[in-house]
This record gives sequence, structure tokens and C-alpha cells, in this order.
Amino acid sequence: MLPPEQMLELGPPVAEVTVHAVNPWVAFAYLVSGVFFILALRGLSSPATSRNGNRFGMAGMLIAVVTTLVTHDIASLPEIVAAMAIGGGIGFVIARRIAMTAMPQLVAAFHSLVGLAAVLVAIAAFLDPAAFAIVDANGAIEAVARIEMVLGAAIGAITFSGSVIAFAKLNGNMSGAPILLPGRHFINLAIVLGIAVFAFGFWSGEHAIDFWLVLALAFLIGFLLIVPIGGADMPVVVSMLNSYSGWAAAAMGFTLHNTAMIVTGALVGSSGAILSYIMCRAMNRSFISVIAGGFGAEASAAGGAAKEQRPYKRGSAEDAAFMLKQAESVIVIPGYGMAVAQAQHALREMGDLLKKEGVSVKYAIHPVAGRMPGHMNVLLAEAQVPYDDVFELEDINSEFAQADVAFIIGANDVVNPAAKTDKTSPIYGMPVFDVDKAKTVMFIKRSMGGVGYAGVDNDVFYLDQTLMLLADAKKMVEEINKALAD
Ligand code: TAP
Repeated sequence: MLPPEQMLELGPPVAEVTVHAVNPWVAFAYLVSGVFFILALRGLSSPATSRNGNRFGMAGMLIAVVTTLVTHDIASLPEIVAAMAIGGGIGFVIARRIAMTAMPQLVAAFHSLVGLAAVLVAIAAFLDPAAFAIVDANGAIEAVARIEMVLGAAIGAITFSGSVIAFAKLNGNMSGAPILLPGRHFINLAIVLGIAVFAFGFWSGEHAIDFWLVLALAFLIGFLLIVPIGGADMPVVVSMLNSYSGWAAAAMGFTLHNTAMIVTGALVGSSGAILSYIMCRAMNRSFISVIAGGFGAEASAAGGAAKEQRPYKRGSAEDAAFMLKQAESVIVIPGYGMAVAQAQHALREMGDLLKKEGVSVKYAIHPVAGRMPGHMNVLLAEAQVPYDDVFELEDINSEFAQADVAFIIGANDVVNPAAKTDKTSPIYGMPVFDVDKAKTVMFIKRSMGGVGYAGVDNDVFYLDQTLMLLADAKKMVEEINKALAD
């Protein structure tokens, strides 16, 4: 205690704050793991450094897990090991079985678990605050812990219910079409206000009813936020939920006094938010409008419309090989169908064969091609396509006018000119490749009936310069390679 004259100099005494002692070695280990996570994100920003980025991420996580195990002050070691064995076992089996194309729904499912974990941690801390060392001298939950708890519960609940709906939509258990409630913006606003009022009530009075009401309303708003979002905007939703799951983990870290979780959660939260912003830009959508919901409302109508029969030219692998050999420059546009067919290795071989013939081969990647961010980059890197041959939309789009062949393999929405011309199209406004400017367009897909993710027909199929190569992507490219080698 300071002598009264010095207390006067310092001003009035402030409220007592409980400081949770942290072993300096633990703090240091968490700091190192935090730095490794930052290096991981840095590494993942380019395909050339992504392997190292992953290694940093794994090392950071190992340090964080080992440190938590060594200092296990929440649960006993056997309990932690048993939980890790069960969770790790399930994760291992799922990761081995899952098809690359089902990744978005898997990611949504995993996000829902992060949200649920945050909710359960908040409930546990609320029911037994002493176990979490968050009780003050008067036996009440510390004021700051009440804020952390209610935030963790709310963000976790929104992440959970939002992710469950995203999973159901992506997995086809629920229609991808937006469900638009009348006056939904007012309903959402009223719920957000309700959450704020009850959260304040819990903070000021620690009433149990306020805590449970925040939780119930947060579950409801998570559901209402995702239900109106249409199929075409699901990529943004997945990255947005990724961001929410990060903030939920950060909130959990506060309740558990775990610095590594706070740092990691904040990194995931902020990088997910940046990714959502990038995805919105790629789709030419306003971030706020996507969050408020209702985009892609016309998707179901357009997708359901009967398609008119129009003439098109069908070609064989031999026709394609002949024209490709004659070309000076070929731009390959891979899409979701390439991933389904796992045609990336055959495609790389085709690129090699054409280069031997003196043809320039470039790969054009749209930011939302496939079904997850970076989907095409990962597949092309797996097939060892040189990074220097791979270009982003804005860097290559002007080159189609000079290209001899635009070679579209399993892509559809990302090359659909309706995005530029048809205001009623669910993809209207999304930047697309100007493939129609190339001298020849080759389009690999399995049938004329199949539509892309947004469910809309594509005028490029019927252009004079378009050759439809109707077959499974891998089979067709393998046949083209055979013809090129002959
Ligand atoms: P899509 O527009 O979905 O088109 C896929 C094309 O591949 C279809 O034309 C399909 O036609 C064909 N295809 C399917 N399986 C095939 C196979 N085995 N062999 C050959 N062709 C096959 O793909 P895209 O152009 O990549 O566009 C991506 C779409 O997904 C965008 O609308 C985007 O918004 C959305 N999306 C993206 C993400 C992320 S983050 N990238 C996440 C969710 C949704 P057939 O059926 O006739 O073969």
C-alpha cells in the first residue's frame, strides 16, 4: 500500500484487477508459436513458398500443443490425450476419405465445431467460474471475464448455426437457393440489438437469463444470416465463417487465459476477413450486401429454366490435337470439372507436349474457379505446372484477344459472358475471362446438359469458333496427348 500523500499524487484508486500469473517460459513458447503462425501465413501467400508456410504452421502448432500439454492446468493429461486421440482419429479418417471437391462443406463442418467449442467453453466457464479462476473477491464472475464469456458465446453460436446451414447448402442437403424472409433486415437488426441489450444485462447484473438469451439469439441470427445467401455467393460465406471461427477461438483463448489461442484466433479471424474481402472483389459484390444476404436470388430461377436447343460444333481429341499443334499461343482455363476428373497431371503433360512443338502455353486462374480459394493453384502445383506459367485473371485477361486457343477444361461460370451482359443472371457483375475473343475456343465438359455451379447456360458453347469436346476431362486430355504424341 502506498502512503496517502503518494496516493493523492497518483489520483483516485482504480478498481482491483486480477492478474493471471503466466510462467514466462510458457509465454515465450506461445510467442514463438505466434511468430511461426505469422510466418506460415506469409509463406502461404505464394505457391512457391507455401510448403515452407505449411511447415511453419505445423511447427507453431506443435509448440503450442506441447506447451499446453506440459502446463495442463484445465484437465488431466489422460483426459487431454484421450480427447486428442478421439478427435485426431476422426479427423484422420475424414481427411483421408474426403474428395478434394467436397472440401468446402468439410471446411464448413469444421468451422461449426470451432463455434460449438467456443459456446461450450463459455457455458462451462459460466456454470463453474471458479474452475476457470475468473471469480473476484466478492464471489462474482470478474467483469472482464463476463464480457469475454458473452462475446465467446455469441460469436461461437453464430459461427455454429451459420456453418451448419452453409454445410447443408454446400452438401446439397438444403437447396442452394436463397430463402428470403420478408423484412429480414429489420428482423436481423432487432436480433442484433437484442443480443447487445442482453449482453449488457449479463455484464452489469450477471443474470443467468441474459446469458442464455444472448446464446439463443446468436444461434438464431447465425441461421438467419446464411439462409438468404444464394449459391453463387457461397465462396464468400465459407471464408466469412472461417473468419468468425477465428474470432470465436480468440474469445475462447481469453476465457481460458491462453495467449496462443488468442493470437492464433485473431490471425485466423483477420486473415479470413481479408480473404472474404478479396473474394467479394473477385465476385464484384459489396461485402455488406453479401453479409446482409439475398444475393444470387435469381440463381434458382435461371437454373430451372428450360434450355433451348441451339446448334454447336462437336470435335474429337484428334481434331483438338491438330489445331493445338498449329497454334502459337494457348491459354488453358481450368475449373471445377478438372478437379472432379483429376485431370491436372494429363493437362501438364499436354502443356509439355505443346511446348516441345514451340507453342506458348499459359494457365489462367479465376479467383473463384473450383470450389475453394486456391483450388486450381493447388491442383496445378500438385501436377508441377511451373508457377511462371500460371496467371491471375487481371494479368492475363487482355491476352485472349491475341491467343489462338482458349482451352477450357471443366470451367463454366468463370468463362460465362452472361456475367457481363445479362443483368438477370445470378453471376452478373462477376469478372470473367474474355475467352470469346480467342480465335478458337475448346470446351471440355461431359455433356451439353451439364451446367456450372450457378446453374446457367453459356453462350460460348454456341459460338462459331467454339469446338465442344464432350467427355470426362481426364479421358479427353489423355486422348489429346496420345494424338499429339503420334
Ligand atoms: P463450374 O461453373 O461449376 O462448372 C464446372 C463445369 O465442369 C461444368 O461445365 C461441368 O459440366 C464440368 N464438369 C464436371 N465434371 C466434369 C468432368 N469429370 N469432366 C469434364 N467436365 C466436368 O466451375 P467453375 O467455372 O470453376 O466456376 C466455379 C463456380 O463455383 C463459381 O460459380 C463459383 O462462384 C462457385 N464456387 C466457388 C467456390 C470457390 S471458393 N472457388 C466455392 C463454392 C462455389 P458437365 O456436368 O457437363 O461435365
